[in-house]
Amino acid sequence: MKAAANQSPVKPMTYDLLRAHGRRIRWGMVGGGIDSLIGEIHRYCGRVDNRFDLVAGAMSVDPDIARETAAQALIDPERCYTDYRDMAAREAARDDGVEVVTIATPPHLHADIAMLFMEHGIDVICEKPMTRTLAEAEALAAAVDASGRLFALTHCYTGYPMVREARALVKAGEIGDIRQVECDFASGSFLEEDPTRDKRHWRFRPEFMGVEAIVGEVGTHAYNMANFVSGRLPVAIAANMTILTPGRETHDDVQILTRYGDGALGRVWLSFTAAGNEHGLSFRIYGTAGSVIWHQEQPERLVVQHAGKPAEILTPGHPSRLTPEGFHASRLREGHPEGYVLAFANLYRDFGDAFFARALGRQDEPRLGHYPTVADGVETMRFYEAVAASNHAGTWTDL
Ligand SMILES: NC(=O)c1ccc[n+]([C@@H]2O[C@H](COP(=O)([O-])OP(=O)(O)OC[C@H]3O[C@@H](n4cnc5c(N)ncnc54)[C@H](O)[C@@H]3O)[C@@H](O)[C@H]2O)c1
Repeated sequence: MKAAANQSPVKPMTYDLLRAHGRRIRWGMVGGGIDSLIGEIHRYCGRVDNRFDLVAGAMSVDPDIARETAAQALIDPERCYTDYRDMAAREAARDDGVEVVTIATPPHLHADIAMLFMEHGIDVICEKPMTRTLAEAEALAAAVDASGRLFALTHCYTGYPMVREARALVKAGEIGDIRQVECDFASGSFLEEDPTRDKRHWRFRPEFMGVEAIVGEVGTHAYNMANFVSGRLPVAIAANMTILTPGRETHDDVQILTRYGDGALGRVWLSFTAAGNEHGLSFRIYGTAGSVIWHQEQPERLVVQHAGKPAEILTPGHPSRLTPEGFHASRLREGHPEGYVLAFANLYRDFGDAFFARALGRQDEPRLGHYPTVADGVETMRFYEAVAASNHAGTWTDL
């Protein structure tokens, strides 16, 4: 028995907080119906670590799709709602009402929905971009502070073991003092514009998130990634936004220079026109002693280069070769690929553990607090507005 357990690809996982809490979290969703791009991924993530029970939802703007999505998740029809306001009020009035809600609607609705559920005492997991404007983001941050609610922002790519490893190495000084921070989110998946305007996804229609929607859609991920791994925020940016695809009304290529307080520099490239690329998220961070390089499509490989030495390639699951942060985020033993869903699920696991720790009065656990928060959302929305302002003015803009 013992030998078989040792050969299991599954790394021993942590269920102590769940067990001490004695039951899973009662969880609901707003948006993320089967008519959406991202909803099913959240449902996978909630199930992976056994911390969440999906018990209620207002999961589509279309009532039939809301009902079908709830039916597929075996949600009691009584708790399938067609209006999220109704859901918030009725769930808050139940003894067994939802304790956490995931918001996976288009972004112009996030702030209102998050505020409403927090007012009803419900913790929030929110999709990015967090809000429509910086003012909304700051108001939301103030509401989170005042309410004491937990709030996670699903910059899901920060859940990859090798991204967390890169952050830990940079923090430990492995690459020296940082000089350049580069991050691309340049996708090749949206090369043509749909000629039928009404059928276009909201991310290509300016009336939802403005002509700069790309900055919210992929730019907030790239910017958050650069900040997460480098552990720093730029003080100024210079942006150039363009529409390269004929017939498109929203910008589809954005080139941004960044400048840090100590003179370090950076670059963020966002695009929906990078023909041949797949998803297109990557970073390269250079310091005085070396660099870390990572590509989302090969997420198990972190390239670490020390000046004057051969490059090293780090992979997940090795207790002796990784930092505690990289190992904590690994789920499988070395040599067993993990991928996008398990990385995204790390945010759900860490949020679940923070929920249990709060209930148990054990907030001092060192493994807690690895998910992006409302403060990250404020910084990404500051960036969002600064990119638009810099492009408009044609100059550097302070953050
Ligand atoms: N973390 C990621 O990597 C990632 C990936 C894709 C999308 N997203 C984000 O997720 C969010 C949703 O994006 P998407 O591409 O899935 O959008 P989508 O338009 O494909 O789906 C939106 C969903 O919300 C529902 N909805 C709309 N209005 C609603 C309302 N008033 N009440 C209840 N449900 C409502 C729709 O019916 C649909 O189910 C966006 O903020 C987007 O930026 C994040």
